[in-house]
Amino acid sequence: MPSNPAAELAPSLIAQLQQQAAAAAQNAYAPYSDFRVGAAVLLEDGSIVTGCNVENASYRLTTCAEQTAIASAVALHGPEIRIRAIAVANLNNTASQPCGACRQTILEFSTPNTIIFFSNQDGTFNQATIADLLPAAFVLNK
Ligand code: THU
Repeated sequence: MPSNPAAELAPSLIAQLQQQAAAAAQNAYAPYSDFRVGAAVLLEDGSIVTGCNVENASYRLTTCAEQTAIASAVALHGPEIRIRAIAVANLNNTASQPCGACRQTILEFSTPNTIIFFSNQDGTFNQATIADLLPAAFVLNK
C-alpha cells in the first residue's frame, strides 16, 4: 500500500471531486439542522456519483450525504463497486468529518487505498484513509 494513497490521484481530479461534493450540497434537504452536506464518490472505474443529506421530521431517519452517494453508486453501478476516493463538503463553512455511521458505510466499499477528503473551516480539505478514520472497525465474521 502506498504511504500516501491520494498521491496517485491527479490534483485536477481531486479538485473536481471536491467541487462536485460542494455542488451536490446545494441539493441537500436539511430543514432541521440547516447543515447542508454533499458527497462525491470516485469509483475505481473512474465514475463519480454524488449525494446529499436528506433529513426527516423523525430525526433519526436522516440519511447523510456519504450514505446517499454510496447507495446511489451501488444502485447505478452494482454491488461490486469499490471507492477510490470520497469528498465531503458542506455549505456552512464548518470543519466536518464523516460521522461514525458513515465511516462504517465507506469501509464497506473501500480498499486500503481509499482516501477521504473532508472539509476544514476555511474551505480547504483534509485527507485520511478509512483505516485512519475507523481503526478497529466492525467486521462480520460468520
Ligand atoms: N451529515 C452528513 O450528511 N454527513 C456528515 O459527514 C456529517 C453529518 C448531516 C446529517 C444531518 O443532516 C446534518 O448533517 C447534521 O448532522
